Amino acid sequence: MMTRDDLILLASADASGGIGKDNALLVRVPEDMRHFREHTVGQTIIIGRKTLASFKNGQPLPNRKNVILSTTPGYQAEGAVVVKNIAELFEILNGVQGRIYVCGGESVYRALVGFCGRAVITRFDASCDADAFLPDISRETGWLCHDEGEWKTSENGIRFRIQEYERLVQS
Ligand SMILES: NC(=O)c1ccc[n+]([C@@H]2O[C@H](COP(=O)([O-])OP(=O)(O)OC[C@H]3O[C@@H](n4cnc5c(N)ncnc54)[C@H](OP(=O)(O)O)[C@@H]3O)[C@@H](O)[C@H]2O)c1
Repeated sequence: MMTRDDLILLASADASGGIGKDNALLVRVPEDMRHFREHTVGQTIIIGRKTLASFKNGQPLPNRKNVILSTTPGYQAEGAVVVKNIAELFEILNGVQGRIYVCGGESVYRALVGFCGRAVITRFDASCDADAFLPDISRETGWLCHDEGEWKTSENGIRFRIQEYERLVQS
C-alpha cells in the first residue's frame, strides 16, 4: 500500500478511541470544531455516506470539496462527488490540488488509514459510550506521534489536546 503525505487522517477521539455513537459525535468541543474548519476549508475532505447524513441537514460542508464514499446504487449528494470504491476515489484524488483529509467515520478511517501519511487527532480527556472507533494509530501500527500537543481546557470544560502523527514506516 502506498502512503501519501498529502492524505491526512483527521479525527477526534475519547480516551478509548471512541469517535461516535448513534451516528453522532461523542462531544462537541468548539475549539475542535474551529480546528477542523481551519484545517479543511479550501481543501478536500473524504467522508462516508453515514457521516454525511450526520451533518446539518445532511449537507456537504461548505467551502470544501466533499468526496463521499458509498456503494448504494443511485446514491447522489448535491454539492459533493460520490465515489463507489477506493479505486474510484484515487482516480478523483489524482486531479486534486492541496491537502486531502480523511474525515471518517469508522469504516472510512479503516479503509484509508493505510494510505495516510499523516494523522491529526484531537484527544478528549473523557470516556464516553461509543459505538464507532478509530483504528489503532500507534508505534505498533507504524505511526510516530511527533507532537503530543498541550492539554487545554475547552470553554465547555472538556480537556483536550491535538496530537500530530507521521508514518514511521510505509505500511
Ligand atoms: N470523531 C470524529 O472525528 C468523527 C468523524 C467522522 C465521523 N464520526 C462518527 O463516526 C460514526 C460513523 O461511522 P461509520 O463507520 O458508521 O460510517 P461512515 O464511515 O461515515 O459511513 C459508512 C458508509 O460509507 C460507505 N463506505 C465506507 N467505506 C467504503 C468503501 N471502501 N467503498 C465504498 N463505500 C464505502 C458505505 O456506504 P453505503 O452503505 O452507501 O455503501 C458505508 O455504509 C458516526 O458516529 C460519526 O459521528 C466521528
